[in-house]
Amino acid sequence: MTTANITNPVFPSWKLEYAEGWNKRPMHLQHTLHQHPLFSLAALASLIKDYPRENYALIHTSRGGDGERRWREGDMAGASGQQVMDTIANGSMWLNLRDIGRYHSRYGDLLNAAYTELTGHIPGFDPTSMKMGILISSPNAQVHYHCDLPGQLLWQISGRKRVYVYAPQPPFLEAQALEDIALSGFEFKLNYRPEFDAQAQILELEPGDMLTWPLNSPHRIDNHDCLNISVTTEHWTDANRRSQKMNLANAVLRQRLGWTPHSRAISGPGYLAKSALQAAWRRSPWAASTQRAHRPIEFRLASNEPGGMVDVMPPAK
Ligand SMILES: [Fe+2]
Repeated sequence: MTTANITNPVFPSWKLEYAEGWNKRPMHLQHTLHQHPLFSLAALASLIKDYPRENYALIHTSRGGDGERRWREGDMAGASGQQVMDTIANGSMWLNLRDIGRYHSRYGDLLNAAYTELTGHIPGFDPTSMKMGILISSPNAQVHYHCDLPGQLLWQISGRKRVYVYAPQPPFLEAQALEDIALSGFEFKLNYRPEFDAQAQILELEPGDMLTWPLNSPHRIDNHDCLNISVTTEHWTDANRRSQKMNLANAVLRQRLGWTPHSRAISGPGYLAKSALQAAWRRSPWAASTQRAHRPIEFRLASNEPGGMVDVMPPAK
């Protein structure tokens, strides 16, 4: 295997059709991040260890006796990076390391280099901010039907997964659902129906594949029977931010002020009034009350326990 570094192109086999289809249809591209030393298993193990508590989520998934899906949040303090990956490889769990560039500048530099290539290839693509995360997930893990508010790219580093992408329009995505997500920050508030799958675009992701789709496209993911390591990047463009402000203002108008908005314009006087409204909303005490609460920590990793986990008792009241 060749080893890429920051001076090597991230997209050495870029094709003109990628620029033509960007943000218009789901696309499968080739990249080189999976060969980069920053994503070797040793580098990832080092990154996991001591990752800031406030910027990762370790989630164990299971089904209760009633068939309901249960998510429990855990803590990996004290575990080695290799132990964390081994536990995920043998369990039903996922780890999301958020905003890596904020803590490790080499990842931030690589993120900037990758997006510099993209903006050079795609006329009119001009993101104003980007973040990189790493998602490590168990064999056969699933990400349920949802959509993301910023632009998203999914880069496969290790393992294989199947991604179902749906058009960002009714019945897959109603405007009101998008507005509710903008207000609540809870991206899984979408109704999924199995018959949607007949119209989904289904893409297989292997190491070296990257997936992009039109803004806000709903998607869901099934891991194959192997540990999966993926990079996720999110980006905001001026148009994305305007859409976000319009969605938030429409939700505030509908849910808080009892007025049904009919426009989804992201320019003009109506949009400017909504931009001011959502800014005022964000500064108000009501804004905090609509955001989701943090889950309590319910387990921690421990190598000498069955499944590598030990329950954490809730603090006494
Ligand atoms: Fe997503």
